[in-house]
Amino acid sequence: MNILVFGKDGQLGRAFKEQLQHSSFHAGNTIKLVDRSDCDLSDSYQITSLLNNFRPQLIINAAAYTAVDKAESESDIAFAVNADAPGLMAKYAAQYGATILHFSTDYVFDGFKQGVHQEVDPCSPLGVYGKSKEAGERAIVEAFATSVVGRYAILRASWLYGDGNNFIRSILRLAKERSALQVIDDQHGAPTSAAWLAEVGCYLVLDGSQKRQFTSGVYHAVPPGETSWYGLACLAVQSALDAGWQLQTSPASIVPISTSEYPSLAQRPMNSRLSTNKLQIELERLGLVSKLPHWNTPWDEQVSTYVKQLS
Ligand SMILES: NC(=O)c1ccc[n+]([C@@H]2O[C@H](COP(=O)([O-])OP(=O)(O)OC[C@H]3O[C@@H](n4cnc5c(N)ncnc54)[C@H](OP(=O)(O)O)[C@@H]3O)[C@@H](O)[C@H]2O)c1
Repeated sequence: MNILVFGKDGQLGRAFKEQLQHSSFHAGNTIKLVDRSDCDLSDSYQITSLLNNFRPQLIINAAAYTAVDKAESESDIAFAVNADAPGLMAKYAAQYGATILHFSTDYVFDGFKQGVHQEVDPCSPLGVYGKSKEAGERAIVEAFATSVVGRYAILRASWLYGDGNNFIRSILRLAKERSALQVIDDQHGAPTSAAWLAEVGCYLVLDGSQKRQFTSGVYHAVPPGETSWYGLACLAVQSALDAGWQLQTSPASIVPISTSEYPSLAQRPMNSRLSTNKLQIELERLGLVSKLPHWNTPWDEQVSTYVKQLS
């Protein structure tokens, strides 16, 4: 089967590259990973040409415009990459019976809800990035509305970290330089490992060299547990100290602050908690829960492992 991965140099794209090298996913498949230089997602002609030339049976879209604050002044490019591009990929999949695996975000919610968000909760993004990601979700759903072939999965994650720039790396860099840090403590969510998300995604859509017969839809995909940015910073610093890093900051010298004390261009949701019940049920139906190596590994265990692997 031909598998096409967009965004190969992003955090999630790199995780997919690694995951797809596992023999169970690699054997019998022709895998093409592309970046911006191979296909600029703001150019519909380039996307269509690539799809028509390579003829993928599985499209994994790990690419996105992810500059949340910059998006406030670059709405056109954010919508082109996050909404129009996945819409084109989905139209291809719906026409030719392919599968598309796409990724979205907790930022499609305004975060004013008490408790965890379900997939059926109405979207109400606060900023341009979230609006563009929500438009991408809608474009995919609409592309499949009248199709009887093909499948789509939209996995919504939160607070992603992997091989690339992310909050954990920023905190550890600052902890090397400063004796005290201030970190927001009133936004809540689940840090999601890109490696974990790529593993879940591959199992959901791939059965060796066959497409898996999962139920099309939007699914929340985050590891068990929740924290705040402050809680994540404390754990990252403690894990680094345990691994022998020389830092100026300890968890005790991290000061919790409120969102209002750390203004940003784009407003973020205060509550990013996502229920994964729907995905759990689907994975059980497919007999995958016991096969997925890290499905039940809590976020804090995954963060500790990640930090220990950083050089
Ligand atoms: N990061 C988070 O905290 C987070 C949280 C929840 C959900 N998500 C979602 O998870 C997915 C992966 O995020 P990530 O953190 O892995 O993103 P990332 O590290 O920022 O990577 C995004 C990739 O998309 C590529 N890209 C951007 N614009 C492009 C264009 N015009 N043409 C071609 N490629 C383009 C980038 O290429 P360049 O390097 O050339 O720009 C980069 O390789 C996204 O759908 C994102 O919305 C992310």
